[in-house]
Amino acid sequence: MKNNLIIKNITQLVTCSGFEAKKGKSMNDLNIINDGCVIIKNGIIEKVGKTKDILSHIDVSEYIVMDLTGKTMLPGFVDSHTHFIFGGYREDEFGMRLRGKSYMEIMEKGGGIIRSVNATKNASKEELYEMGKKRLDEMLEFGITTVEGKSGYGLDHETEIKQLEVMKDLNSTHPIDIVSTFLGAHAVPSEYKNRENEFIDFLIDEVLPEISKRNLAEFCDIFCEKNVFDLKQSEKMLKAGRKYNLKPKIHADEIYPLGGAGLAADINAISADHLLNASDEDIKKMAKNNVIATLLPLTAFSLKENYARARYMIDNNCAVALATDLNPGSCFSNSIPLMIAISSIYMKMTPEETITALTINGAAALDRANIIGSIDPGKKADFVILKYPSYEFLTYNFGVNIVETVIKNGKIVFQ
Ligand code: NIG
Ligand code: FE
Repeated sequence: MKNNLIIKNITQLVTCSGFEAKKGKSMNDLNIINDGCVIIKNGIIEKVGKTKDILSHIDVSEYIVMDLTGKTMLPGFVDSHTHFIFGGYREDEFGMRLRGKSYMEIMEKGGGIIRSVNATKNASKEELYEMGKKRLDEMLEFGITTVEGKSGYGLDHETEIKQLEVMKDLNSTHPIDIVSTFLGAHAVPSEYKNRENEFIDFLIDEVLPEISKRNLAEFCDIFCEKNVFDLKQSEKMLKAGRKYNLKPKIHADEIYPLGGAGLAADINAISADHLLNASDEDIKKMAKNNVIATLLPLTAFSLKENYARARYMIDNNCAVALATDLNPGSCFSNSIPLMIAISSIYMKMTPEETITALTINGAAALDRANIIGSIDPGKKADFVILKYPSYEFLTYNFGVNIVETVIKNGKIVFQ
């Protein structure tokens, strides 16, 4: 069987070409090729250029050929921040918030993350796997070809490991690549109330070594927030993670301006995420130290908070990524179309910046900009094909999924 693919006559080929995060103004460079062509061998991109240049010296009989006249092709989207493995739902809390309660009030009264923790403890591995698979199938339809997933609905040894094992299993069976993050420090479990330091020590001494030994996670994350984990605890957790070869990420300055963004810069985290209340000074520090600012507009939308200051960040030379934050509490949505509508209409990002944030910068937020996030020779053949001839339809046809086909490792996985 023919294993190799030629995609030709692509009306608009949006390559996002590059092997590292795009900062500031360069987020507008999409490196578009009109009437583009891509050659793929064994799931890897071999050649990229104009159709007439590339096809003039190739024997097409060796290839499956796709013709994309009238279509746009972009790199597969990267959702670099989700919590997609969890048991149960919290639809009643959403109703409470619509009636006026705040996210933190619900959390302080025993709702919130802890409820999902109990439901996740009670779910079997098989149940978590099945639910996770359905969520991944939905993501694929939106053009996601790589997703990050966090633990953090266990908060005990067994359940944290169980979540990470489920992600590892799904990674080997589902077309979407899954990048796993250990977020044991997501909330303080009731048995450790007012003993946060001891809980951090427990995670570092009892859970982290096994995760590292069994290669169950690539990143370590923490919910750095007032009344959850402070700066000192965050620094300790992330530095311990790094000792075990887990790269640091941080939930920073989401609800209260605690200074998590500054900490991310100080310890050279790969990304700092949320950042609704990050200070000017910390944003500039992040830009200088190449920390990706991962913004999660769907969460701010769902919590009715002000959006993160994308414009200020980009204008101050930060690399911005966009991700969904899919989770059962603050953001039960994986809608890429809604996210694009918010980033472009309310966060004042240009269509080009939004696309960069979802592709090469999302890849950089997962430290994978060398293998995914753009259409360049040597990278994985992960593509999104739109049913229209220009990427501008992504913002113009707001709120609607215009993805027609998704290709992962050179194979059609959604059509
Ligand atoms: O990223 N902020 C902390 N964690 C999630 C919310 C998780 C939940 O409410 O279950 C977030 O928004
Ligand atoms: Fe999150």
